[in-house]
Amino acid sequence: MCGIVGVLGNHEAAPLLVEALKRLEYRGYDSAGIATVNGGRLDRRRAVGKLVNLSDLLVHEPLAGKAGIGHTRWATHGAATVTNAHPHRAGPVAVVHNGIIENFRELREELAAAGYVQESQTDTETIALLAQMHMARGMTPVEAARETLKRLHGAFALCFLFDGEDDLMIAARKGSPLAIGHGKGEMFVGSDAIALAPMTDRITYLEEGDWAVITRAGAEIFDAADRRANRAETRIQIDQARVEKAGYKHFMAKEIAEQPVVIADALKHYTGGGVNPALHLPEGVDFSGVDRITMVACGTASFACHVAKYWFEQIAGLPAEIDIASEFRYREPPLSDKSWAIFVSQSGETADTLAALRYAKERVAKVVSVVNVPTSSIARESDLSLPILAGVEVGVASTKAFTCQLTVLALLAIKAGLDRGRLDAEAARELLGALRNLPGLMNHALALSAPIAAIAEELAEAQDVLFLGRGAMYPLALEGALKLKEISYIHAEGYASGELKHGPIALIDARVPVIVLAPRDGLFDKTVSNMQEVMARHGKVLLISDAAGVAEAGAGTWRTLTLPEVPAAFAPILYAVPAQLLAYHTAIAKGTDVDQPRNLAKSVTVE
Ligand code: F6R
Repeated sequence: MCGIVGVLGNHEAAPLLVEALKRLEYRGYDSAGIATVNGGRLDRRRAVGKLVNLSDLLVHEPLAGKAGIGHTRWATHGAATVTNAHPHRAGPVAVVHNGIIENFRELREELAAAGYVQESQTDTETIALLAQMHMARGMTPVEAARETLKRLHGAFALCFLFDGEDDLMIAARKGSPLAIGHGKGEMFVGSDAIALAPMTDRITYLEEGDWAVITRAGAEIFDAADRRANRAETRIQIDQARVEKAGYKHFMAKEIAEQPVVIADALKHYTGGGVNPALHLPEGVDFSGVDRITMVACGTASFACHVAKYWFEQIAGLPAEIDIASEFRYREPPLSDKSWAIFVSQSGETADTLAALRYAKERVAKVVSVVNVPTSSIARESDLSLPILAGVEVGVASTKAFTCQLTVLALLAIKAGLDRGRLDAEAARELLGALRNLPGLMNHALALSAPIAAIAEELAEAQDVLFLGRGAMYPLALEGALKLKEISYIHAEGYASGELKHGPIALIDARVPVIVLAPRDGLFDKTVSNMQEVMARHGKVLLISDAAGVAEAGAGTWRTLTLPEVPAAFAPILYAVPAQLLAYHTAIAKGTDVDQPRNLAKSVTVE
């Protein structure tokens, strides 16, 4: 959620902090702030709203100093106000925080009784006050931070800066990721390596419970028991081009357009570059003896799992369960020790998904993750991790990560089919060939952007929108609805079309657009019957199908969109494109903030 950055540099820190915060703004954009130490004097600037407000403030009230910390906030405790914005300061201590301090009420009362009264509603200020109290009682900054950390329950990543200390930062990680960057006589801290990319590619990831004393000479890292810990320094590669908008108006538009390329890249990685595709999955991917799989994720990633359930069952005959992580983690589901648990996450840091993974870890034969960030906590804590290779996804609404997740899950389902004897080599090759055709077909789907923009002008007037699909198109209906609501703020729901007459059909009238996702597959006639039921009640139907489907069932609909023909199994990957474009253009028509929709953040590291 929130983004954290810290700099002990040889140049002015404020511009570096703001630049790094720009790269972290996807984590939250309710408010932002920085603090620096200049000639031993600690000072800070904070502003509500987007980072640009902080930049403006810094023009009028600059902040000098070569040591500093910065923060971009996604509000958890307390509204988005300047008082609640980070860095929080108490006397000689400033702190930035990502996560939630669960015992902060108890600590706040204890501090108030000792005369340390909080001015904000945040859990973070409690941390600064605790450290201040320890320092007032004679502790050094390092001792005060260490004692403060011992009192905190919950999940957090923290970075402290101190008055009078031009060459000291203290960083800590428990539950929320934090990376230390190494420069030449400079040191950095960041919520993720992307934030630090312009400054350094030499990164050390703190592990659970670690805390670090950082000076320009380097970082001394301690584990949760305060023992010196050796953590490896790695060199990371951030594909710079994929972090720029590259001429597009929004990251979301660029990421939608990138899909043919990134899917082709992922397929090349996992099926080789030759004419005859063959699976190149890591050695441990062997489904023989696996009795079932459980797939767990949140949001869009959970819809990818839902689509994949159909694939594992139909292609591999492998029982597949799905759940959303926030339910799974507390449900105490019994898990077979012959089963695999698969966790899907773009960021690899989603708190609920990580907790669900930890629950499954001792209970299943193998924990597998399908992630976009290979250095993430979820990737590192899995027995086996498969990168989806989508490149950095900046738009808050997930697009290319979704279709790349689907692509990797489809490859796993094909491998499961082979391992379990449900597919012979020829059938598998055919399916792989069908996957390889997808990037080309997606280019055709992308060419529908203009007609979709015209439809979106009208869709933007709607109060409610329904998405319908059957089979593997049902979870895509859920994803289409999620995409539309999160960026256009129009109420949208996805339903399995067969479920319509069990209640939702009561919603249908002439003002409710109904988007029917119906490739001409084995379930087409059934979906069309449901669509007719909608039209008989004056529902405005947008039929998305292939040429044969539109010719057969398009009459009397409000609008149609024609996609190329695609093998039925993998239609959800292709049909994701018009669903994404509909959401994108509707948001544009409504004038909402496409890349940073209200109340959302890209990486959900709190429950
Ligand atoms: C929606 C969206 C979210 C994420 C969800 C899980 O467009 O992006 O629903 O899919 O928060 O995030 P990851 O995949 O990072 O675990």
